[in-house]
Amino acid sequence: MIKAVIFDLDGVIVSTDEYHYLAWKQLADEKGYSFTRQDNERLRGVSRMESLELILRDASQRYSQAEKLAMAETKNVIYRQLLSKLQADAVLPGVLDCLVDLKARGVKVAIGSSSKNAAYILQAIGLDRTFDTVVDGTCITRSKPDPEVFSQAAQQLGMAPESCLVVEDAAAGIEAALAAGMAVLAVGTAADDPRAHLAVSNLSQITTESMLQLQLPSVA
Ligand code: G6P
Ligand code: MG
Repeated sequence: MIKAVIFDLDGVIVSTDEYHYLAWKQLADEKGYSFTRQDNERLRGVSRMESLELILRDASQRYSQAEKLAMAETKNVIYRQLLSKLQADAVLPGVLDCLVDLKARGVKVAIGSSSKNAAYILQAIGLDRTFDTVVDGTCITRSKPDPEVFSQAAQQLGMAPESCLVVEDAAAGIEAALAAGMAVLAVGTAADDPRAHLAVSNLSQITTESMLQLQLPSVA
């Protein structure tokens, strides 16, 4: 029986993909590297520094750690400028009803995100007081696909992993949730990932009842 739902933030609660893309693209253009929307898809759920490593993977030039940190900071400054446009209407379809319904049923809700901008984003969309706990990129030492972010959220909620359902839009996030021993609902571009236990295009396409009825085969 599912007693808690842990939501990824970017791509699940709110659409920030385009802003991430535009910010990385500006940095890549300045440095003379190619960066496409398809490349951006591979960065879903991947931490800022690991995203930069992926972008620089084929670069002939070698950068020091200090230079890489400066590049990541440049990207973040651009991203934060773009995020300043973010408002409550950026919340993805079905999210608000889903949260209201889960809370009415006494289900705990959490955020499990790799982002260090999570608190800022939640405040911008008016959801900074909604979740029972928020575990984000500032709390963890290992990023998805490591299970740390979800294990920490479950621990803070006082829930066993098998009582938790993770909602994810990224392959790295699905892998992290499975490694944490949790059930997974895939949304958006992750909906065709065969490892997910449930999949929908967005949260307006599923009832909270069917989310809560989910049982992992190993613990059923
Ligand atoms: C989320 C996004 C990633 C992003 C990561 C870190 O997981 O899907 O694309 O790189 O957060 O975000 P941050 O806001 O800390 O740069
Ligand atoms: Mg995501």
